[in-house]
Amino acid sequence: MRLFTLSLEQIFSNHFAVQLQLAESLLAEHSLEQLIIFSGSQKTLFRDDHHFPFVANPYFRRWLPLSQHANCALLIRPGQKPQLYYFNPADLWHLSAGNPEGFWVDCVEIIEIETLQQIGSDLLQPERIAFIGEEAALAQQWGITQINPKPLLAALDWAAGVKTDYELECLREANCVAAEGHLAAAEAFAEGYSEFGINLSYLAATGQRESQLPYGNIVALNEHAAILHYQQQSQQRPEKSYSFLLDAGAQVQGYAADISRSYVAAGARKHTPAGALYAELIEAMEQVQLQLCQQAVAGQCFVALNQRCHQQLAEILARFDLVRLTPDEIVAQGITRTFMPHGLGHLLGTLVHDAGGLQADSQGTLLAPPAEYPMLRLTRILQPGMVVTIEPGLYFIEPLLAQLAASPQGHAVNWPKLDKLRCYGGIRIEDNIHVLADGIENLTRDAFADLDQAS
Ligand code: GLY
Ligand code: MN
Ligand code: MN
Repeated sequence: MRLFTLSLEQIFSNHFAVQLQLAESLLAEHSLEQLIIFSGSQKTLFRDDHHFPFVANPYFRRWLPLSQHANCALLIRPGQKPQLYYFNPADLWHLSAGNPEGFWVDCVEIIEIETLQQIGSDLLQPERIAFIGEEAALAQQWGITQINPKPLLAALDWAAGVKTDYELECLREANCVAAEGHLAAAEAFAEGYSEFGINLSYLAATGQRESQLPYGNIVALNEHAAILHYQQQSQQRPEKSYSFLLDAGAQVQGYAADISRSYVAAGARKHTPAGALYAELIEAMEQVQLQLCQQAVAGQCFVALNQRCHQQLAEILARFDLVRLTPDEIVAQGITRTFMPHGLGHLLGTLVHDAGGLQADSQGTLLAPPAEYPMLRLTRILQPGMVVTIEPGLYFIEPLLAQLAASPQGHAVNWPKLDKLRCYGGIRIEDNIHVLADGIENLTRDAFADLDQAS
């Protein structure tokens, strides 16, 4: 596994200084005195006393790598060192948080607490404090009235679109961890494992528990690959193996990787025309995906890139004789949307779908996606330092195909050919791209290349 190549202390303290400067200028702009960011409370199951897995809120994780620390609060007071209320009570039942240590500790003044009341009683003039977190009732108990002020969140979401060196390093590392999992999962697929078994191989290779992952792995064999966020993992090996789609990430210091790969089963490829066709479609989609990645440079409008993706998808549908119209006609008639109902990509950071992708400015003016592509989550012009996913797809989704068949466009589809592909589910290829002023850094391909070199 790749280790951080830069000194984390140095790049983290620069990152922290950037967050602090931003917060201080926003507080001044919004006539607020202080900001408190709460990591979050543990949620218990209804009528029981044990907890759902805890993940600190994404705003908190942008300041401190304490993803698993509930009940902590960071207090920003302009001109002073930020204070971290570090929840660390003695606990008979659970491992306590432990002594605060690591590359981040020098950036904050740490106040260890055993109860949350200690925070509330420390706060002076709570009406001048802004609170960020899910726990509005707790903030109200502390006398705070400015809870998740929209303009403040919009400004923070906007700024978070551009990553610091520290964040980029975390995202690189998350890609390296996830790439190890992807290689192990591909081997498990080749050996005929079930979805459940493939997922276990993934977890073992990444060394991450499911609760540490940034989202539930999508481990989809055969027709399950047509379900965009397929959430089950069957323990049965399918009778016949056609295909495998894996969309799985990893989390490092609270930052996410989000990677997808698609595979054809060796037997299907060798012995059936549909398997050979599906393999060719994967190759064609990979070429499209690589071209789109290269175009994710600074200044590129992501809406236009999404449009280009649909144009290229239409070319594939025409070239492989799946739809008997010209590519322009296929796009104009909205047929590509049947085969790729999701957007080309999104911002990536402490959230898999980082907030702020649909903003026109730091004030939060909505930059809505075009009516034809309502699922697009990113409409901004790309800037250096952004990290985005590029994830074109081509799926055979039963309800959408049924709608297409019943529509006037249905006659243009080569159904006998397409019907043979239904059991393959679909294709998604997804990389994480760091946008540069004059090019890109492909965090995902670099991670796979590192592993390739090491083996
Ligand atoms: N894994 C969710 C997504 O690709 O957006
Ligand atoms: Mn994604
Ligand atoms: Mn994904």
